[in-house]
Amino acid sequence: MEAIRWQGDSLALLDQTMLPAQECWRVYTDFRQVAQAIRAMVVRGAPAIGIAAAYGYCLAALKGEDLAQAKAELAASRPTAVNLFWALDRMETAARQCGGDPAKLAAQAQALHREDAAQNETMGRLGAAVVPEHARILTHCNAGALATGGFGTALGVVRAAHRLGKVDMVYADETRPLLQGARLTAYELLADGVPTTLIGDGMAASLMAQGKIDLVLVGCDRMAANGDFANKIGTYSLAVNARYHGVPFYAVLPRSTIDPSLPDGGGIPIEQRPAEELRTLQGVQIAPADVPVYNPAFDVTPHALLTGVITERGVAGPPFTETLAALLRP
Ligand code: MRU
Repeated sequence: MEAIRWQGDSLALLDQTMLPAQECWRVYTDFRQVAQAIRAMVVRGAPAIGIAAAYGYCLAALKGEDLAQAKAELAASRPTAVNLFWALDRMETAARQCGGDPAKLAAQAQALHREDAAQNETMGRLGAAVVPEHARILTHCNAGALATGGFGTALGVVRAAHRLGKVDMVYADETRPLLQGARLTAYELLADGVPTTLIGDGMAASLMAQGKIDLVLVGCDRMAANGDFANKIGTYSLAVNARYHGVPFYAVLPRSTIDPSLPDGGGIPIEQRPAEELRTLQGVQIAPADVPVYNPAFDVTPHALLTGVITERGVAGPPFTETLAALLRP
């Protein structure tokens, strides 16, 4: 399953706002449209928005536009996932080296895309080792092929463990308000034949209390140097519930999602989304039109609730300040 295709002179994105009802590809030739597609979550998930922005940068180069301006506009699309800024910095460095040559920049963006998919395969293989036999895994939001360059982070580990015959069931949180779990994770896992059960966000603690969850695997949008990390809103309550019930809890992420410039999670910028996302459900009003709304897209889980961090370089455990720094060394 793929969500991002470079077509030489345009970028095609699988519109994730339409899934699973329709598989609709949209084609972009202007970097401003790509920034808007990221904002509107046509493409979403930390690594995927980095890759899409890198291709957006290539579109600006193809038209001979101001690359600093393109970088600034693409970077302003969503604030939390550090992969977006990481990918744009890489493109800017490449542009400096090649004098903005569009073909060379496209090759750089494609390399970044391929690297991400390959890292996910590695993460899957390494992460599958922590998955017990007959595992019943809980996941939140969508950290799958749709959210990355391919294979997925948390769902990459699920896929690899499933190939080893270790997965009895994946419980997918529906993930209000935008339902990435219901619409995207359930769709992705069923397409791969992984046994999947959809649950409402408030149901996880009850499953844990019944002893029906062996492991929680989630993705990440930005991890600080001490292991505190931002992920889809609701991740923090899952981590609290997992700790209370003695269920191991892992974040799965490429090293490009670690932001060593932040000592802890307090400095991670949290995106606030429009109120209409909570007042409506798929266009239908479900709350008073004027009710005040609190709608942060992400929350920060303290590192103390993490069992481990699965990356393409290995699985880090506490103390995370030391183990993550070691993983980041070249
Ligand atoms: O708002 P979204 O759908 O972009 O949020 C996505 C997540 O929270 C994912 O878990 C995270 O980006 C990791 S994707 C590999």
